Amino acid sequence: MEHTNSRRTRCFRDATHSHWSPRTPFSLSMVSFARRLFLGVSAAGLFLWPLCAPVLHAQLSTADHLAEPGFWPTQNAASRRDYVGSGACAPCHAAVVASQKATPMAGTTLRADDAGILHSHPQMNFAVGKYHYDVKTAEKQSVYTVTDGTRTLSATLLWAFGTGRVGQSYLFKQENGNFYEARVTYFATLQNLHFTPDRALTSPKDVEEAMYRPVGAAEIGRCFACHSTASSIDDQFDERNLTPGVTCEACHGPGAKHVTAMQSAKLSGTAPPGDAAIFNAAQLNPADSVDFCGACHSTWWDVKLSGVTGVSNAKSQPYRLESSKCWGKGDARLTCVACHNPHQQVQSDPSSYDRSCLSCHVASVAAKKTADHPGAPCPVSTQNCVSCHMPKVYVPENHYNFTDHRIRIARPGDPYPN
Ligand code: HEC
Ligand code: HEC
Ligand code: HEC
Ligand code: HEC
Ligand code: HEC
Ligand code: HEC
Ligand code: HEC
Repeated sequence: MEHTNSRRTRCFRDATHSHWSPRTPFSLSMVSFARRLFLGVSAAGLFLWPLCAPVLHAQLSTADHLAEPGFWPTQNAASRRDYVGSGACAPCHAAVVASQKATPMAGTTLRADDAGILHSHPQMNFAVGKYHYDVKTAEKQSVYTVTDGTRTLSATLLWAFGTGRVGQSYLFKQENGNFYEARVTYFATLQNLHFTPDRALTSPKDVEEAMYRPVGAAEIGRCFACHSTASSIDDQFDERNLTPGVTCEACHGPGAKHVTAMQSAKLSGTAPPGDAAIFNAAQLNPADSVDFCGACHSTWWDVKLSGVTGVSNAKSQPYRLESSKCWGKGDARLTCVACHNPHQQVQSDPSSYDRSCLSCHVASVAAKKTADHPGAPCPVSTQNCVSCHMPKVYVPENHYNFTDHRIRIARPGDPYPN
């Protein structure tokens, strides 16, 4: 594997992730320390912490993965010249390039001028108490206005985050050049604005506070690391040259060496070199494979260390999945890529996931479990497994029903298992 980078920003994680409730931020060393402490406790068999049982898995926090050598998603890059862009992959991987472009991941950041949601919703508004919020889009730009009836503040939106599949949040700058996050976000289920998740303020102290939350340099780096490609080079956030959206090199690392190697093999008519000189997550073990997606979707440890409990943690699929009985000690039949092709949009037909469940569960009530099929049969149904065992849970701050990746028997009225 490629190890181009010796000076990464290591604390790209994320107890301060905007989607989680605000809590005391952990530094990298605290994360690592806490993790080792927990591991130590469980390894010593003291069981002081009742949630220790799943801890023996090899999964790590994202900070710990980033501290290891080699490529990992969200990592800071060494040089812009190592990146070639998705267009350079197209001559040889045309089908992957075409399908990936249409995924929400690829479209998850836009310059506000290009945001379809803003243009198709040219007048959005929200009011709470004496505060009125507006986002008005005319031909060229979107203007965000907040008033308390006496004072009015306005700003031109700069970046739109999120495709709008669930929601879309907005960043803008002021004359000081600093970034601000709008206090309101567009939600698909509302087709309008409401408080940005975890940023609700019903009695702000002034119009400024009602309007925005300042986003410091370190946090801006983290937002773009998860929502765009090659956004920070050599510890510097590079707003001008980043590629919006999660594209090939966000998951495969810089591609220049691979392209050069493959082009020269093609030109000389020789077989591709044994070392493809690019990162391929297919080679990871099951726990690392899930942690790989967890670099952005939050790993089991990222959630544990951030302390987020309740339905909000349904937004971390790795955490929920690895808390399922099905996960056991980790199994390639239950990684994220066992159910999702990262180059394609998510499948919405529940029957398309049956194959995955039935790779472990015996299909008929009459059949017995085997070493190969360690899962019991369902006494209720033989198809559409996910429709009952991966229930949708409503997450109030996102106004959205997320799919609970903690596979389980979900009986009506049961409390949400943390
Ligand atoms: C000139 C043709 C060419 C270009 C351009 C190219 N690839 Fe490839 N790629 C190949 C070939 C051929 C293989 C198969 C190599 C092998 O099997 O050893 C491959 C394999 C891969 C693999 C799997 C590697 C492995 O270890 O299994 C990944 C991932 C990949 N390419 C990503 C990319 C990305 C991302 C880009 C654009 C930045 C890109 N490729 C551009 C020809 C190309
Ligand atoms: C570099 C960060 C990053 C990585 C790595 C990443 N994701 Fe995502 N993913 C996102 C973001 C951001 C979104 C939100 C897209 C939006 O705005 O709707 C998302 C959305 C998704 C969605 C929902 C949208 C859809 O319909 O496709 C799926 C499914 C998904 N990711 C699967 C995966 C899997 C599987 C992996 C690992 C192979 C992975 N992701 C790795 C950042 C990432
Ligand atoms: C650790 C990686 C990470 C960081 C940091 C991050 N995001 Fe996200 N964001 C994601 C992922 C993954 C999703 C997709 C969640 C899902 O739908 O499952 C997402 C989704 C979103 C959405 C769509 C709503 C939704 O829940 O799908 C918005 C809006 C958003 N992020 C804005 C931001 C902003 C603004 C920042 C910085 C202030 C930020 N994000 C920081 C990973 C991240
Ligand atoms: C969200 C992360 C993500 C993004 C974005 C992404 N890939 Fe991949 N890619 C993966 C993972 C994970 C695998 C391994 C899949 C597996 O294990 O089945 C993979 C595998 C591959 C392979 C190996 C052959 C195969 O299909 O298994 C190629 C080639 C490839 N990707 C090319 C690309 C190109 C080109 C792009 C951009 C158009 C791209 N990928 C974008 C995560 C991603
Ligand atoms: C056993 C199959 C399975 C596995 C494994 C799996 N998913 Fe999903 N995932 C689903 C289903 C089913 C949906 C809902 C699809 C729908 O209804 O549109 C979904 C939806 C999603 C969504 C869209 C948001 C939502 O809540 O509906 C994201 C993001 C996602 N998965 C990410 C991941 C990640 C990251 C992993 C690895 C930790 C993963 N998934 C593993 C089956 C799976
Ligand atoms: C890697 C193998 C594997 C996969 C894939 C898998 N399971 Fe499981 N599952 C198990 C094992 C092992 C158990 C626990 C032992 C048993 O069922 O007898 C289990 C337990 C369960 C249980 C009982 C949970 C409880 O709380 O008692 C349900 C329900 C279930 N699985 C449904 C599913 C569904 C639905 C899918 C697909 C979305 C799935 N499983 C995928 C291996 C798997
Ligand atoms: C219509 C909803 C529904 C569907 C669809 C469904 N199940 Fe179930 N399943 C249940 C319920 C309810 C139970 C609990 C039954 C009980 O305890 O009486 C259950 C129990 C189970 C169990 C636990 C069995 C045990 O002996 O402990 C497993 C495993 C399971 N289902 C797997 C699956 C798989 C795999 C599929 C798809 C092939 C599936 N289920 C489809 C509702 C469903």
